[in-house]
Amino acid sequence: AQLHSLAVAAGKLYFGSATDNGEITDTAYRAILDNADEFGQITPGNGQKWQFTEPTQGQFSYTSGDAIASLAKENNQLLRCHTLVWHSQLPSWVSGGSWTEAELTSIIETHISNVVGHYKGACYSWDVVNEALNEDGTLRDSIFSQVLGSSFIGIAFHAAGQADPDALLYYNDYNLEWTGSKSKAVINTVIPAIKAAGAEIDGVGCQAHLIVGSVPSRADMAATLQSYIDAGAAEVAYTELDIRFSSLPPTDDGLKTQGDAYADVVGACLDVEECVGITIWDYTDKYSWIPSVFPGSGAALLYDENLEKKPAWTSVSSIL
Ligand code: XIL
Repeated sequence: AQLHSLAVAAGKLYFGSATDNGEITDTAYRAILDNADEFGQITPGNGQKWQFTEPTQGQFSYTSGDAIASLAKENNQLLRCHTLVWHSQLPSWVSGGSWTEAELTSIIETHISNVVGHYKGACYSWDVVNEALNEDGTLRDSIFSQVLGSSFIGIAFHAAGQADPDALLYYNDYNLEWTGSKSKAVINTVIPAIKAAGAEIDGVGCQAHLIVGSVPSRADMAATLQSYIDAGAAEVAYTELDIRFSSLPPTDDGLKTQGDAYADVVGACLDVEECVGITIWDYTDKYSWIPSVFPGSGAALLYDENLEKKPAWTSVSSIL
């Protein structure tokens, strides 16, 4: 059986993959991506980010995002929409402006009402705010935090909820898979800030960009997922899972270790009822973002560069 079907049989909502505009013309790649029994959910890897959706103030472009949204719709796959307010891939007209609080609030609200409005009804969820925290749990420096402090988070969630009341609203970040300063800040800062703004948070997304050899135990990861539920999130998910090797090529033993690590992450989601699903950040090493951002690292996904299943695929399918 295939991964999404197995995940559904195990009580989850989906097992999915990110994809991106440059690769969706690859027919061999599409033959696997389009199989909704394998991937029941899709996330656009880039196309809905601010730099693409509002490259110039007030001029909205949905070409890239729409291509992925229609692919998911044709395939009967859920769409996780990604992302609205993020310090990265932000056009310089936003990051380089000298805004008053009122101006930047209005810029955020206008961006969100347009983009979320455009995709209204199509998104299972939105990653409303992405990566707002430093590793020590303090607020990351960005144009948003400089001008608005932590209030930009509530502003964004409020605007997203207004624009599509049916999409589930997520806070999404990396290194939230284990308990530490960053995960505690989600519980003690992010969730309370959203509630204090009179807005709602539905989910916490743990990106799960992990490294072979440094993956926490299944029990630790499950307990951390549960801590977000206990803090008031209705659900959690692994939203961008990949587990990279920091030196290449992997050995056979390494590939087995990677498979065990994948099983632990998927297992942690199985252990927490409110963990709705798992998204890998593309499914094949052929199109992984890892080598370009972490030079010398890679081989992080379930299929190799030739679109062949790796030991980690078998490991995930066995645990599901
Ligand atoms: C990455 C994309 O995969 C790359 O193509 C792009 O160049 C940079 O962004 N966290 C996120 C994702 O939330 O949006 C990032 O995606 C990976 C890290």
